[in-house]
Amino acid sequence: KRKIQIAIDGPASAGKSTVAKLVAKKLGYIYCDTGAMYRAVTYAAMKKDIRLDNDKDLNQLLQKLSIEFVPANPEQKVYVDNVDVTKEIRLPGITNNVSIVAAQSSVRTDLTKRQQQIAQAGGIVMDGRDIGTTVLPNAQVKIFLVASAKKRALRRYKENILKEINTPLDVLEQEIIERDYKDSHRKISPLVQASDAIEIDTTELTIDEVVREIMKIIENRL
Ligand code: C5P
Repeated sequence: KRKIQIAIDGPASAGKSTVAKLVAKKLGYIYCDTGAMYRAVTYAAMKKDIRLDNDKDLNQLLQKLSIEFVPANPEQKVYVDNVDVTKEIRLPGITNNVSIVAAQSSVRTDLTKRQQQIAQAGGIVMDGRDIGTTVLPNAQVKIFLVASAKKRALRRYKENILKEINTPLDVLEQEIIERDYKDSHRKISPLVQASDAIEIDTTELTIDEVVREIMKIIENRL
């Protein structure tokens, strides 16, 4: 069987990473969380007191910044310049600022190149906002996951409780809507469904059901 590229895009908290990980596991493919890379840059910039909309300084930061995914159980870890930042990059302070960094052109150019390198050999499931449109326009399978903002906020709320993050549900919903707005309205590779992507609305579906639906689509293209 050939080793293909699978792109999974969609708005915040639509369940992309959860299902992408499961699909990658089933296929024995690599999973790449591109959102974690934007979060990692945001984390590094905040640590170094770089203004998050300063394209030039961010560009300089990126020249020397290492971002690595390290396999671990049960979840792979994210390292920035050899420091484990897996937990830190999910904190609200990063989540609510990452869209500013992700709108800067030098950041997108740099991370897009890194992502294309990771995906080069195929056998990859990559999730994000612009994978099907910009990073891997020739991906053999493109999925666009959506769900109502209410349902997405509720899922994030439940995840947060396990991480001891206590943002109220209505605030979470507002934050998700705002982040989607920023991601959809930026100039460079905004969040938009690729014309050849298959949309799956997960509002009323379980994780298993979503994975099964995606696996059916993939098996037809292997
Ligand atoms: O997927 P996640 O919620 O971790 O992504 C965090 C942020 O990173 C998004 O809100 C978006 O601003 C940015 N992002 C992006 N392009 C991608 C992946 C993420 O702009 N391919």
